[in-house]
Amino acid sequence: MRHELYSFPRGDLPYLRADATGNSPSSPLVVLLHGARDRGRDPEKLLAHGLGRYVAHAAERPYHFLALQIPENAAWADWEDELLTLLDTVAAEPGVDSQRIVLAGFSAGSAAVWHFASRHPERFAALVVVAGQLPDSVEDRALAALARTPIWVFHGGRDERVPEAKIRDNIARIHALGLPVRFTFYPEADHFISDTAYNTPALQHWLATVPRRTSGTPRTSADDADPLFINRWSPRAFADEAIDDASLFRLLEAARWAPSAGNSQPWRFIHVRNGSPRWKEVTGLLSDNNRPWASKASALVLLLSRTTFIRPGTSEHSPAHKHSFDAGAAWAHVALQASLSGWHAHAITGYDTERARALFQVPEDYDLEILIALGRLGDGATLPPPLRERETPGPRRPLVELVAEDRFAFPHDAPDTVRAAVSQETGARTPA
Ligand SMILES: Cc1cc2nc3c(=O)[nH]c(=O)nc-3n(C[C@H](O)[C@H](O)[C@H](O)COP(=O)(O)O)c2cc1C
Repeated sequence: MRHELYSFPRGDLPYLRADATGNSPSSPLVVLLHGARDRGRDPEKLLAHGLGRYVAHAAERPYHFLALQIPENAAWADWEDELLTLLDTVAAEPGVDSQRIVLAGFSAGSAAVWHFASRHPERFAALVVVAGQLPDSVEDRALAALARTPIWVFHGGRDERVPEAKIRDNIARIHALGLPVRFTFYPEADHFISDTAYNTPALQHWLATVPRRTSGTPRTSADDADPLFINRWSPRAFADEAIDDASLFRLLEAARWAPSAGNSQPWRFIHVRNGSPRWKEVTGLLSDNNRPWASKASALVLLLSRTTFIRPGTSEHSPAHKHSFDAGAAWAHVALQASLSGWHAHAITGYDTERARALFQVPEDYDLEILIALGRLGDGATLPPPLRERETPGPRRPLVELVAEDRFAFPHDAPDTVRAAVSQETGARTPA
């Protein structure tokens, strides 16, 4: 751990700096924003607990570490220029991946994480918020810009500074905006959870494997749809993380509530987890385009739809004409719930349906719709080049091309030559 001083126009500030261990040519940079009681001019204070203590004692540290100390009585928001200047300097050092900078806070430092990240969303690849609240001054519009920034919040149920009700409000607000947040709650813990939180092996793994910031133009909505709809997208890079029962069944439960013709509920799901004995067989069904990336998902779910149903008041099966359409609604519920809970879902039509029917012994009166790849967002840089370039939420055609009033009027749906010109204009992606 190196103790350094950085000279700013307003004076020198002490900071701590440690290099990543291991031989990776480029590693993330994790930046600690300390709490109010650690202000001053003694950076040793920053090593007494939480991330600082973890970093100082860890035998291996697959990320670079930086911790600036602000003066006694100072507020983080007043030192924004200094923090960003130092960040730029350290991010330019060899071996530091400037696309993988994580802001990690404790207490007032966590509030500062929200403040800085919402003001500079393009700078940060992930955020860790420990025992700190989301400041009311951060507006929804600014927060929505963090739609592609994974966030992990830790909180204690007996935190006397930020009560449970406040943090639950924060989480509800973040969820409503569709941000990819993960929440770890310690019901019995008080405010001082920095050691527990930063010693969590899963968090340390998460910091080490944080994906590079997703580039691309952020999606915007001219007509104010909820960010939930705008922020859902279909990545191909998945992190190496198992999906637990609670997360998986939450997605399928959301699907259960989809609407369907005559409430026929034709959807059926067969899930196979990565690592299970069936995994090789199910990934063997995928087309050559889809297998390389979809094999890294946490689970694949086969969505079936029953082609017949028993209408209320009858005892015979009759055709369910809209079974596929209804199954599509169920897929959308899965994808949106995944987005809400910090997971991602990617629909796949490129697989061998006949072999899938045989593998899962699906009876004739069920159609095989799609496979759904589920996982946490991974590092897009690990994808092969053609996929890497496409690893970003794609645009959409403008509403004006899709809506007509009172009559059929879709001039953009002209023959192919015209359509090609239109999609060039709008930047619309060609379908997979
Ligand atoms: C029914 C369906 C089938 C799809 N099949 C594939 C597929 O086989 N391979 C693939 O890479 N993406 C597939 N996709 C993903 C689409 O290409 C993607 O949803 C679309 O480009 C819009 O991007 P977005 O989901 O990121 O907004 C499929 C999507 C749907 C809804």
